Amino acid sequence: MKNCVNVKYGDQPFNPFWEKGYQDLTVSSMGGPSFEVAEMAPLLTPKSKVLDLGCGEGRNSLYLASIGCDVTAIDRSEAGIRKLETIAKKCGVTLKTQIADISNYTLEEKYDCVMAHHSLNYLDKSAWKKLLSQVKHHTTAGGINIFTLYLYNDEYPCTNEVQAAHYKNSFLPNEIRNFYDDWREIRFDQYVKWDSHPGIPMHYHPIEKLVAQKPGGKYDCHIFKEPILSKALMTNNLFHGISMGMTQQDLIEWVGAPDIINTKKAHGKQFGISLHDREYSSQATVEDYIIELWYYGNRVIYLNNGIVSGKALYNTHPMRIKITNTLTKIVKS
Ligand SMILES: C[S@@+](CC[C@H](N)C(=O)[O-])C[C@H]1O[C@@H](n2cnc3c(N)ncnc32)[C@H](O)[C@@H]1O
Repeated sequence: MKNCVNVKYGDQPFNPFWEKGYQDLTVSSMGGPSFEVAEMAPLLTPKSKVLDLGCGEGRNSLYLASIGCDVTAIDRSEAGIRKLETIAKKCGVTLKTQIADISNYTLEEKYDCVMAHHSLNYLDKSAWKKLLSQVKHHTTAGGINIFTLYLYNDEYPCTNEVQAAHYKNSFLPNEIRNFYDDWREIRFDQYVKWDSHPGIPMHYHPIEKLVAQKPGGKYDCHIFKEPILSKALMTNNLFHGISMGMTQQDLIEWVGAPDIINTKKAHGKQFGISLHDREYSSQATVEDYIIELWYYGNRVIYLNNGIVSGKALYNTHPMRIKITNTLTKIVKS
């Protein structure tokens, strides 16, 4: 991996951990597409307009573009955008990219889906409020917003890597949920997730995730929210003994099989995949991709193609979203 180049935004010296991964085309810095993005994908049609704010090297943008969505991916990292463009070209995927600062971004079009994963928490409160007010306005009726935020607390203080990337402690617990209280809540999760990135050993992220749907629009599909009632148990010691890169066989020997597994599959060449080995390296692309969530009560283990890539301790109840009648899609109002 190349040495990290120091990046400067304005007068601020800035050395975020992700720049190193963005400069290396052979690794996946953040892993594969987010589970809830794959979960919500049946709601989107080919040609649905998608905006990814702070897309990084584009794991979610690439995934939605590969199923035909009309994606615009924005990030202020030139290296991230260049890597995304190179991977898209290599894989024959078409999308629009833009190098821009989302803290003073103006939306000019309407989108069926706007998402931001681990990027809004680098904006101060007034900036994210201004941005999300626009986002709400510029989402089509019946369209969705998907957000994942880091939310550090006393028990899980901000990690050095994230602090070095100028994390702003600008979200209170439930604040994003309250900001969307006039929309339909599809998913709201609070959990602590342990994972690793190329060159960065296992660490935690306290996370809030929101998927919300703008009222209105015409639907002929149904979204069901269902709690995952796993009865399998795992002690704290067993949970903390799980390491990234374990095989599914190692995991079964260590904690036993779960009673519930939630799976998403994507066939053909896939990008942005973490298949971490014990040296925390990963692959940028892979043939066929299976992401599995193994449930043990409120503990969830993430496996990518049979290799452990993360583990989470849920504060909210783990949920499963089902979208029926997947041939029918959002009808633009
Ligand atoms: C942890 S990475 C997440 C990348 C991507 N969303 C993902 O989930 O893989 C955070 C990203 O937010 C971007 N970012 C942070 N502040 C930003 C800003 N003000 N404008 C645009 N992008 C920003 C960073 O450049 C970085 O690519």
